[in-house]
Amino acid sequence: MKQITIAIDGYSSCGKSTLAKAIAKELNYIYVDSGAMYRAVTLYFLENHIPIIDLQRAADEGVLHHYIDKINISFENNPTTGVSEVCLNGRNVEKEIRTMKVSESVSMVSTVKEIRSKLVKIQQEIGKNKGVVMDGRDIGTVVFPDAELKLYMTADVNERAKRRFAELSHKGITASLEEIKINISQRDYDDTHRSESPLIKADDSILLDNTNLNEQQSLEFVLDLISKII
Ligand code: DC
Repeated sequence: MKQITIAIDGYSSCGKSTLAKAIAKELNYIYVDSGAMYRAVTLYFLENHIPIIDLQRAADEGVLHHYIDKINISFENNPTTGVSEVCLNGRNVEKEIRTMKVSESVSMVSTVKEIRSKLVKIQQEIGKNKGVVMDGRDIGTVVFPDAELKLYMTADVNERAKRRFAELSHKGITASLEEIKINISQRDYDDTHRSESPLIKADDSILLDNTNLNEQQSLEFVLDLISKII
């Protein structure tokens, strides 16, 4: 069967990765969570006590590469779930990157052009043979502008906060619903207003608002689109 590239962009916590994983499982495609890559880079700066506020200045002064060159981002398969998990310099950091501390800092890290270029290159390399589902903010616009299927996802912010709260509680990560909602709203603003690869709907992407859809309904909607393409 013809292999395609599926690009899923959208707002924070609207079910992009849940949907992307389900599609990848259904089609036996590679799944890549590009947000996890930005989170892993953020974790590197936090763990090494490198102030995130100074990254742009370091980039302007031409010295940011001293840090960036020390960061290696890769994925490894979790044999229990069958899903790929992100590694920072060879260490699986899938859990550490979901903390509120990382969530609060990642938007600023993702505004830095040099960091984006490094991660986009890795993403394009992973997807060069197609058969990939990738979710993020710039996948259909920058990473894979020729993707055969592009989705642009959104959902009501209260619903998204509730979903994130349930997900974090399930993982044993403590955060209040209000704190999560504030963080999501702030990231919505930051992601859509930054100058470098902002979150925007590609002209050829299909809008999916899943506020009132469950996971199965969203999956069926997309599988129907895919069957028309392949
Ligand atoms: O998908 P996520 O919420 O885990 O992503 C974390 C942050 O990373 C998000 O607030 C913006 C940034 N990001 C990005 O700028 N570009 C991507 N392709 C993916 C994520």
